[in-house]
Amino acid sequence: MDTFATLLVLCGVMSLALGVPPIWTQPEQIHISYPGSPGSMLITWITLNKTDSVVEYGVWGGKLFELTAKGQAALFEDGGSEKRTMFIHRVLLRELKPGVPYVYHCGSDLGWSDIFYFTALRERVDWSPRFALYGDMGNENPQSLARLQKDTQVRMYDAILHIGDFAYDMDEDNARIGDQFMRQVESIAAYVPYMTCPGNHENTYNFSNYRNRFSMPGNTESMWYSWNIGPVHIISFSTEVYFYTNYGLDLLFKQYQWLQKDLEEANRPENRAQRPWIITMGHRPMYCSNADKDDCTEFNSHVRTGLNDTTPPAPGLEDLFYRYGVDLEVWAHEHSYERLWPVYNYTVFNGSLNEPYVNPKAPVHIITGSAGCRERTDPFVPEHRPWSAFRSSDYGYARMQVFNSSHLYLEQVSDDQYGKAIDSMWLVKDKHGPEAWL
Ligand SMILES: *[C@@H]1O[C@H](CO)[C@@H](O)[C@H](O)[C@H]1NC(C)=O
Ligand SMILES: *[C@@H]1O[C@H](CO)[C@@H](O)[C@H](O)[C@H]1NC(C)=O
Ligand SMILES: *[C@@H]1O[C@H](CO)[C@@H](O)[C@H](O)[C@H]1NC(C)=O
Ligand SMILES: *[C@@H]1O[C@H](CO)[C@@H](O)[C@H](O)[C@H]1NC(C)=O
Ligand SMILES: *[C@@H]1O[C@H](CO)[C@@H](O)[C@H](O)[C@H]1NC(C)=O
Ligand SMILES: *[C@@H]1O[C@H](CO)[C@@H](O)[C@H](O)[C@H]1NC(C)=O
Ligand SMILES: [Fe+2]
Repeated sequence: MDTFATLLVLCGVMSLALGVPPIWTQPEQIHISYPGSPGSMLITWITLNKTDSVVEYGVWGGKLFELTAKGQAALFEDGGSEKRTMFIHRVLLRELKPGVPYVYHCGSDLGWSDIFYFTALRERVDWSPRFALYGDMGNENPQSLARLQKDTQVRMYDAILHIGDFAYDMDEDNARIGDQFMRQVESIAAYVPYMTCPGNHENTYNFSNYRNRFSMPGNTESMWYSWNIGPVHIISFSTEVYFYTNYGLDLLFKQYQWLQKDLEEANRPENRAQRPWIITMGHRPMYCSNADKDDCTEFNSHVRTGLNDTTPPAPGLEDLFYRYGVDLEVWAHEHSYERLWPVYNYTVFNGSLNEPYVNPKAPVHIITGSAGCRERTDPFVPEHRPWSAFRSSDYGYARMQVFNSSHLYLEQVSDDQYGKAIDSMWLVKDKHGPEAWL
């Protein structure tokens, strides 16, 4: 061994002994979200050491990276014992051409990401957005992820809705599980808007990993917000305000007031005419026929009817959503799939006996929480509930396409059955809003 090599080995041994940490300026965990205003997209990523926040992008097929946008990095300190820190970069792209695919990378002069692409959302209301939706996907056993990756790569979706419960859990191992999960979903979340709501698995340190890592519209750190896509108004909210009241009962009331205001606005005749579909997404369902002790198995589930042991009593959400004519409510939390007949207050309101989903007289609920996690899947009670139309404990996720103002299609994909659509529904409505119930 020559002297130079010996020196190198010595240096290596010394730095190991001194524990000199590596420098992390390479961008990772890239994901995108729709910030709510037409022509925009928000790019979010992480570096462990401080760098600038830059996105270089351009129209697919044009000159690469001819456009540049800059943003900011926020320091996030995890609540775990190591108090790990990371920088969360956010860069807003504006004035994107609707329906046009873009190519981008992100980072800084200290390191650039791989190249990704996305299609800017169309602004008009007369197109037919396609979604993947699911909840409860973890770092361990994310069984549906491979299929979702392939679906996304063949450009099957315009947006992905993750209905709460990420990573299991993002805060674990001093938030390294959160890092690893966000690396896993980069394969889908860097290509289409990845829209979220919080679940119970995010609750540690007052939801801080969730609030810091995601970048949803509104100024609520992604806790509740709404956005428009094609003929749809999507409302995302936190069911967790009904359970983690230790973080502030006022949050429950604040959200309720916000929901009411948002629904009021969405129901103004000129708005509902433009975007007739109102779809809500929240983690814990109001109804379910699972064989567990969850909230949704209770007749007076907190999400459905509220809390009566608080001052003042806290209103539930079923009446509110019914009053404002919500068309479809999507949920997760139960690690299974369940489709309900149109239902209000435990009563089935079919459109008709033969065509229950043609002009239904109450909202339709779908529970799709079996994307895959370390807790496996949830079984059902053997009895059949009169409001339950179909149920399955296969791993999987839902696909939805809103064709136009009257037709919405939804299907559940079974990953256990190699991608077979095990259930499907056409929701057809000539009329939207509370007057549709009459
Ligand atoms: C890089 O980040 C690590 C982890 O947060 C930290 O320990 C280290 O001090 C940082 N180094 C520099 C040069 O900022
Ligand atoms: C929890 O976070 C919310 C913001 O989402 C904040 O308003 C509230 O005060 C926090 N609660 C506690 C107990 O820190
Ligand atoms: C309060 O709510 C619980 C369920 O959350 C229910 O069992 C109880 O009957 C309710 N009490 C009153 C007075 O309504
Ligand atoms: C809902 O049903 C319960 C009993 O099944 C009834 O007591 C209650 O009045 C109903 N509420 C509404 C708003 O219809
Ligand atoms: C609703 O429609 C389904 C499918 O036709 C039927 O099985 C169910 O009994 C109906 N429920 C009521 C209350 O009419
Ligand atoms: C809406 O879409 C459905 C499904 O593609 C189609 O059958 C129907 O004719 C469309 N309605 C209008 C008004 O375009
Ligand atoms: Fe959950």
